[in-house]
Amino acid sequence: MRLATRWAVGVGVLSLLLGPAALPASAAQPSEAPPVHAQEDQSYGQAKKNGLRTVAPEGFYIGTAAAGGGHHLNADYPDPFTYDRKYRRILGAEFNSVTPENHMKWDFIHPEPDVYNFGPADAIVEFAEEHGQVVRGHTLLWHSQLPAWVTQGDFTDEELRAVLKDHIQTVVGRYAGRIQQWDVANEIFTDGPNPQLRPENIFIQRLGPGIIADAFRWAHEADPQAKLFLNDYAVEGLGAKSTAYYELAKQLLAQGVPLHGFAVQAHLSFEYPYPTTLRQNLQRFDDLGLETAVTELDVRMPVAASGPTAQQLAQQADWYRWTLEACLAVEGCNSFTIWGFTDKYSWVPVFFSGFGAANVMFEDYERKPAYYALRDTLAAVS
Ligand code: XIL
Repeated sequence: MRLATRWAVGVGVLSLLLGPAALPASAAQPSEAPPVHAQEDQSYGQAKKNGLRTVAPEGFYIGTAAAGGGHHLNADYPDPFTYDRKYRRILGAEFNSVTPENHMKWDFIHPEPDVYNFGPADAIVEFAEEHGQVVRGHTLLWHSQLPAWVTQGDFTDEELRAVLKDHIQTVVGRYAGRIQQWDVANEIFTDGPNPQLRPENIFIQRLGPGIIADAFRWAHEADPQAKLFLNDYAVEGLGAKSTAYYELAKQLLAQGVPLHGFAVQAHLSFEYPYPTTLRQNLQRFDDLGLETAVTELDVRMPVAASGPTAQQLAQQADWYRWTLEACLAVEGCNSFTIWGFTDKYSWVPVFFSGFGAANVMFEDYERKPAYYALRDTLAAVS
């Protein structure tokens, strides 16, 4: 049996509303579909019997993004997390970790200087607690999905720093004791052979690289229990970009910064080779004393109108399995999250034209070979 860190799910006291204003819990509410929060749980016990979480080893968290916000706002379906009963039932039954896909990002949760839209994130955290799930907070220091009031605000450097500090402490503070892991810094390095701190990150550009350490310190002050992570894509294998993180992690640790983990998003694609050095890469961060995690796994492929072929689905299953096996092989890798479980709500076709079928269930929730690859792999180590 694999040694596993046990996590305490903080029940924490729901803090008082920190923001001066809060928006309603959900934006688009179709009149024919009442919220389903109260209705779906009867069948939870049934589905709970064979979900991924039921075969996961003790202390290992198998998670998914909870769909909503972002690209879903332009879709022709109602908010998945709020209104899709089947989706919610599977979410509760299969997983013991959830990540709000967009609901804790700056543009969603803090759209105006004095407006915090906590309702949707609150709903996910409450759902997680009702279903015995932990929550990964995502994300705080990122160049993307920032509202115009931040990117085009006429702030002095000192004011911008205060804006970031206030945002981090307000959001992290609101959920203090209820978040297992926070992606504090997301996608802060550029791609290519010579990674640099991203010029698009307004905070790093204006305030200097020291702002990264500050973001971790502020988050830690606001929630001393949460494990604080670096998170990025294209850092799965050994390479220039993951090495940039390795060097940064060493520096931050040497400075006593409360950095607890390094996470690989793992948005994989058949366009590129499988990152076969994933385990070694996670292991070198583990050797620094950091936790590691896979936070956003999906495996996209070019799709014909007739859908993925059997051969593509088999290859996808291998890639899901290999990624899970790499995490399971590293002692401090105890959190493994897929970026949604059904193709129905995937971000992939919206962002990668011609690609799709990236998730472990088809649009009708039928399980793909990749689903069974995950389940068999978890069952084999329990
Ligand atoms: C994506 C969401 O899935 C979409 O809904 C949204 O429109 C854009 O962002 N890396 C990340 C995630 O850290 O937050 C991104 O999520 C996918 C890439």
